[in-house]
Amino acid sequence: MLIRRESFQIVSAQAQLNAENRKALITRLRGFQDLIGARAHLAGRVEQAARRVAELHNFSEIRIPLLERIELYQRSSGETSDVVEKQMYSFSDRDEAETVVALRPEGTPGVVRAYIEAGFDRSDPEQRFYYFGPMFRRERPQKGRLRQFSQFGVEVFGRPDAACDAELLIMVDELRRELGLELQFQINSLGDSRCRPAFRDALLNWGRSNLDRLCRDCHERLERNPLRLLDCKIDVEVTASAPTTGEYLCDPCRDHFSIVEQLLTASGIPYVVNPRLVRGLDYYTRTAFEVVSSEIGSQNAVVAGGRYDGLVQALGGAPVAGTGFAIGVERLALALEATQLREEGPKVVVVALGNAAVPQANRLAADLRQRGLRTELTSPERGLKSLMRRADKLGAQYALIIGENELERGVVQVRDLRKSCQREIALSEVAEHVKTDAAQYL
Ligand code: HAM
Repeated sequence: MLIRRESFQIVSAQAQLNAENRKALITRLRGFQDLIGARAHLAGRVEQAARRVAELHNFSEIRIPLLERIELYQRSSGETSDVVEKQMYSFSDRDEAETVVALRPEGTPGVVRAYIEAGFDRSDPEQRFYYFGPMFRRERPQKGRLRQFSQFGVEVFGRPDAACDAELLIMVDELRRELGLELQFQINSLGDSRCRPAFRDALLNWGRSNLDRLCRDCHERLERNPLRLLDCKIDVEVTASAPTTGEYLCDPCRDHFSIVEQLLTASGIPYVVNPRLVRGLDYYTRTAFEVVSSEIGSQNAVVAGGRYDGLVQALGGAPVAGTGFAIGVERLALALEATQLREEGPKVVVVALGNAAVPQANRLAADLRQRGLRTELTSPERGLKSLMRRADKLGAQYALIIGENELERGVVQVRDLRKSCQREIALSEVAEHVKTDAAQYL
């Protein structure tokens, strides 16, 4: 009895020590992530494949700073864009002029600035660059939406022709094939400085006469940037009757878009025209596109880009055309991970809590394997927490737990590790249940 009490005291002292240690632990910030092992490897694969495709298309690398003057983003991404209005990490530098600087939320403005500063716009306008590195946006974090994420981007200058827009989409398709991914291409034309004002006015008028049906955010969007009404996630049904860009394109913009379409068809790239695609950054003209994955949840755009013919001039350069895209590296890595899982099939871990449960666990594991499910039996000598860590490390979808209590009652605890939920199922039904349920991961 005495020994027991002492050992209890030792254990609780240890637990207190651990708890205090945990308190001292400095954790990472929300929306920032550590990429370790397999995840880092997947992100590396995306980067390598993208570099290879870009170099085969004769792009050369450009490395630009992480910190720029805030005006660069205000003048390019747009004062009313969410990125500039709400999401920038900015602060005042400690120099005499108290320059306000911002961590880059995207690569395009910095590349355009560097292009002009190096004098290319006047001396040698046709250039093609690629870049890779971290971007920072103070967004609401969720799966696939981070506050620090990596982009692999490309920008082409001095090519106003539609063939260049098509080439960019062909590059994304090559990357998609190289990584073995299924992706959907969505394209649209946003018009140019000649036809866009009429479209903007039409949307404004439509919005004003439908004001009572629009959400609060759209009331604000309407006055500041009416194009953004079209990508409101709340008012999808209401804005179905709103004007779309296609109806307002001038002849040159219409021709440009139709050549892009013809070239994509000729290259065998399936695409859909999404007339609601307007993009969240202000500099786009004519072709805009997003490439989406159906494997990664609601933040599904893995690549996005388009033409920005007025941007070089707006930032003080010569009137040189520009177009490009950026890959969200973590999102593409997530799509890669989901595809790999699908190809390998779901994994099950059978957890026997104690040696008494092992024979039953062995029979259950054999039954699961017979049904084609990859199944691993974990050590019966470790605690539940450590076994669950093992299941997580293996990337298993299910942990089937059998302890003394389950043995007695002829049941199994079935934990779906992806959805973080648990159900108790009769031993005789569990293998069939898991097999049927696992079909959702195939
Ligand atoms: P964007 O659509 O803002 O465009 O971002 C491009 C891609 O970066 C997105 O499709 C997504 O995959 C990824 N991304 C954006 N925000 C996040 C986030 N918070 N967390 C994780 N991934 C994210 C641009 O940035 C333009 N500069 C693209 C471009 C280049 N247009 C012309 N040239």
